Formats: sequence, structure tokens, C-alpha cells
Amino acid sequence: MKKILVTGGAGYIGSHTVVALQEAGFQPVIVDDFSNSRESVLEGLRAILGTEVPVHRVDCNDKAAFRGVFEAEGEVAGVIHFAAFKAVGESVQKPLAYFQNNVGSLLVLLELMQEFGVNNLVFSSSCTVYGVPDALPVTEETPTKPASSPYGRTKQMCEDILRDLSQAPGNEVKSILLRYFNPIGAHPSGKIGELPLGVPNNLVPFVTQTAAGWREELTVYGTDYDTPDGSCVRDYIYVGDLARAHVVAVQRQLDGKAADVETFNVGTGQGNTVLEVVKTFEKVTGQPLRYRTGPRRAGDVPAIYADATRAAEVLGFRTEVGLEEALATAWRWQQNLTNE
Ligand code: UD1
Repeated sequence: MKKILVTGGAGYIGSHTVVALQEAGFQPVIVDDFSNSRESVLEGLRAILGTEVPVHRVDCNDKAAFRGVFEAEGEVAGVIHFAAFKAVGESVQKPLAYFQNNVGSLLVLLELMQEFGVNNLVFSSSCTVYGVPDALPVTEETPTKPASSPYGRTKQMCEDILRDLSQAPGNEVKSILLRYFNPIGAHPSGKIGELPLGVPNNLVPFVTQTAAGWREELTVYGTDYDTPDGSCVRDYIYVGDLARAHVVAVQRQLDGKAADVETFNVGTGQGNTVLEVVKTFEKVTGQPLRYRTGPRRAGDVPAIYADATRAAEVLGFRTEVGLEEALATAWRWQQNLTNE
């Protein structure tokens, strides 16, 4: 079985990708420092997969320790690099930590990949690189805008690093940059899902935690945008679909079909407002959600959704799970947590 290192493999998207890799016949190997994930993820993975996934408790910025992973694992076919900090607000408070962790770890990883002759990388990027776009939907050719947060800038910088590396003489590392839109939902078993430490910043975990009584009420940030109902528009992609996109990207590289650097939007191609998410959640669960409308959140983009054509045409990747089903899985996961 071909080994794929999954940095941040104990995280939200990482853990779902570990499942998808294993189910596709790869051997995922988790590299994670558990700084924003829990040990219980490993139990969930064990329950879903019926086997133990190898785990290295390593900070990707610790080069000596990370080198030890490459030494221990021997032949590695590719790397998926999820490990990063991702809280927009926190990045404004602690920019250096974000540059160190997100940009620094990519540099360490690339040096080690060169050292060990591992040439396939799939990188977690974000639609945040588009900033506030002039036109919708955004294609991969839509110009990027100055980032509105240090977090966003780290994603842009990492993309730049990978593009520059692809031009360097003798470079053999190929990378696929996946620009995620808004991942939501959980594994259908309800055994792994999104569980940020502390109060969630993201919409769907806040919604499910409110419905479960962990939070008083949801605040809808802004209802005066120029959108169908005044709330922000996002492209919510089911996390299992997003996980599958990574497997497709890895396979493309192993099949020798990938160019030196390639970029794909990974979204559904459809935009939904925050209020539509709330209404759909109420429909799925059959109970009203306590929410109020509040002021806009600083740094929010009014509306963004993907043109998903390139991923469909080049990768043959299409999303399969819609908003209702995705929210149903998020709720199942929340109920499992609540019943623990
Ligand atoms: C943000 C980043 C994205 C990043 C992601 C990681 C931007 C533009 N986007 O996504 O790049 O990968 O975080 O966490 O920087 N909302 C509420 N009430 C809440 C929470 C959210 O109304 O309690 C609204 C927000 O205003 C937004 C939508 O829900 O319109 C989605 O918010 P969120 O889940 O935080 O994701 P983004 O901000 O889109």
C-alpha cells in the first residue's frame, strides 16, 4: 500500500481525508502535534476503519522530529499538508505565530521532501486568497486580492512559495493547491467531525452547539449585505466530498498526470446565505434554532462561491452531498458528542 503522510491528520478535514485515503487503498500516516485536535479523533478513526492509523506526534516546525518521521516511514508516495492554524481573528492578534506555524512548517516540509526524494504534495489552500472578489463565481484565474488577515496572507504566501519552487531549476516536487470553500458536516457514522477547542468561530459548529444547548443563541453577523436575504453568501462543501478531492489529487500525481503546480477550487459551485443555512438546519432537525441578527463581523467577505468547472473537467471531481444531508451529519456528530 502506498503511504501518504497527512500532516494535521487529526484535524477536521485531515481526519476525514485519512478515512477517504484508507478506503481508496492508501496507507495514511498521521503527523500531528494535537495542538488543535483531540486524542478522541483517533478512537473515532479506529471505530470507522477497524484498524489503527499510524500516528506521529510531531510539530511540523520541529525539523529534527519531522525528519525522524521520514526516516521511520521509509518510502512515502506523497504528502498532504493540512497542518496549520486557521482562526482568522486569532491571526490578527498573533501574526508571528501564524507566519511561523503556517509558512515555516511548509518550508520545513519542502526541505525534507527534497532531502528524502518525496515529490508529490497536496496543499490546503483556501478561497480566502481571493479576498473580496469583483465577480462571482470565482474561477482559479480570478485575481487574488490583498489578504484581509494574516491567516489569509499565510495561505497566499504558501501558494507563492509553491509556485516559485515549481520554477526552480532541478525542482522535482509537484504540488496541487486545493482552494477550499466552506467545509461542513461530519462522517455519516457521527464518530468524527468538527470540534474546535473552545467557542467555535465557524458557522456550522456554532449552529449545532446552539441547538444542543451548549450555546445560548447564534448571532447572524450582518443582514444588510447586498445578497438575496442580506446575510453573507458562502459555498458550503460537505467535508466527505472535500476529503475525496484530496484522494483524487494524490492519485493524479501518482499517475504522473499532474503538472509541476496546479490549482483547483474545491467547492460545490453553489452559494447559500447564512439564513438559508439556519433554515435548512431547522428543517433537517425539525426544531427551531435560537438566533438573533447582529452587526457585521470585521473582515467578512459579503459573498463568495466557486466556479467548480476546472475540478470537474480536469480532476473529474464533483460534489455528491448537498446542504441538507451535510447538516444532518453535523447534527448527528453533535448529538453523539452531547450524549458522551
Ligand atoms: C473563514 C475564512 C476562510 C477560512 C475559514 C477557516 C475568510 C473570508 N474566510 O471562513 O478562509 O478557511 O474561516 O476557519 O477569511 N457566521 C455567523 N455567525 C457565527 C459564525 C459565522 O453569522 O457565529 C457567518 C459569517 O459571518 C460568514 C459565514 O457564517 O458569513 C461563514 O463563517 P465561517 O464559518 O466563520 O467561515 P468563513 O468566515 O467563510
